[in-house]
Parts: sequence; structure tokens; C-alpha cells
Amino acid sequence: MANNTNDIFNQEFSRRYDEYNEPLNAVSNNLRFLISVLLRHLPVNARILCVGVGTGTEISSLARQHSGWSFTGIDPSPDMLAVCAEKMHQEGCYDRCTLIEGYLSDVPATGHFDAVLCLLVTHFIQDHRRLDIYEQMYAQLVTGGSMIVAEIAGDMDSSDFDEMLASWAGLHSVASNIERDPEEIRSQMIERLLLLPPAQTERLISEAGFSSVQQFFQSLLIRGWVARKPVS
Ligand SMILES: C[S@@+](CC[C@H](N)C(=O)[O-])C[C@H]1O[C@@H](n2cnc3c(N)ncnc32)[C@H](O)[C@@H]1O
Repeated sequence: MANNTNDIFNQEFSRRYDEYNEPLNAVSNNLRFLISVLLRHLPVNARILCVGVGTGTEISSLARQHSGWSFTGIDPSPDMLAVCAEKMHQEGCYDRCTLIEGYLSDVPATGHFDAVLCLLVTHFIQDHRRLDIYEQMYAQLVTGGSMIVAEIAGDMDSSDFDEMLASWAGLHSVASNIERDPEEIRSQMIERLLLLPPAQTERLISEAGFSSVQQFFQSLLIRGWVARKPVS
């Protein structure tokens, strides 16, 4: 059962989300560039599912590059979805988007998506098992389809985590121009997120049935994986 994060992604924060993240665009643009590389061989009429679509940044970049692709975005936050819908209208791709308020567990498994993206979402699921969401994404894909996930990951009990956390605080200090205290960030992480060691996430992805699990991205604590729904 997913924990509710709508108090974080409320109206005020949703309206400021893109602006707040702008200083981190050097990181997110790299992630999105690599995603477009990984998905470049999809059919011209590919269907893409975006889980935790938020304000739709991942749709924007792919819709610009592929005029025949269509997108389904699902998100529990009505406020994030409202910003997403506005943005899709402005960018002229709203007619290719279906936006659904809720969780992936609320929608039937179609098995018709060529790719499913889940970016910066899974660390909000405060459950060590965290297997359901990978199984649900698996059920939405065509055979041979790709899942791409990116999350904040790390082993908070390991000896090198403090060093990584200090760099992470540095990233946010540079981005916000306000010096951030690593210990304050640690407390916020413990309160609202669940960071899993990367090897554990990889095991969960495999356990859900995926093959060819590959970590393709890392920027400090953010890691990204691509995996495939096997053909047989
Ligand atoms: C940090 S934002 C990321 C938005 C977008 N994917 C991006 O990369 O900009 C996280 C989003 O995940 C949504 N979310 C939180 N828990 C979720 C869950 N269990 N399933 C799907 N979406 C969830 C939130 O409402 C929020 O819009």
C-alpha cells in the first residue's frame, strides 16, 4: 500500500515545482537525454506510461522528439496533474496525453505500453518490500517493453553514506544558493522517504520478472535503471 504524499505535492508546491527544480536541470537533462537514447527504437506510434508523472517533464521532452507517441500519466496528486495538464496544453501535446489521478494499483493492467517510466517516485514508498509497483509496471508492458526507473537510493547504514550525503547537501546548496545542512536533509529523508541500497532495488526489479537490468545513470544519490519484460 503506497503512503500518501499529497501533503508534499500540494497546490503551492506543485505550482513552484518546475521553478524549484530548474537549478538541478543539469542533472535532470542528462537523465532525460539518456532516456531518449534508450527508447530511440520504439515504434513511431509507441505508447508510454509515466507513473508519478508529476508536472509532466518527462512527457514534454519525449513528445517534442516523437510526434506519433502517446502518453498516459498517472499521479495521486491532483495539484501536480493540474500543472501537468496546463503544460501539455501549452506545448500542444495534450491531445496525445491521458492523465489519471490515482495509483497504478487503481488502473487495470493493459499489457499494451511499449515503455513505462517511473522517475523520482519509488523512494516515496516507505515499504522495504516495495515489490508491488515493479510488478504493476511489468503487467502494463508489452513483451519486450522497457521499464525505466530513477530514484534516490543509498545504504544509509553504510560507512560511505555520510560522504555521499555531504555531496548531496552540496548539490542542493549550490542549486538553492543557501547552505544546506546534511543532518537536516538526513532527518527529512528518514521522515518522508525510504532509501534502499541500489542492489536491493535491482533485486526487486528482477524479482518482478524483468530481465537485462542495467543501471544507466547515477548523479550522487539519484540512480536510474532500465529493464526489459522478457519475450518468453
Ligand atoms: C518528485 S515528483 C517526480 C515527478 C516527475 N516524475 C519528475 O521526474 O519530475 C514525485 C511524484 O510522484 C507522485 N507519487 C508519490 N507517490 C506515488 C506512488 N506511490 N505512485 C505514483 N506516483 C506517486 C507524487 O504525487 C509526485 O507527483
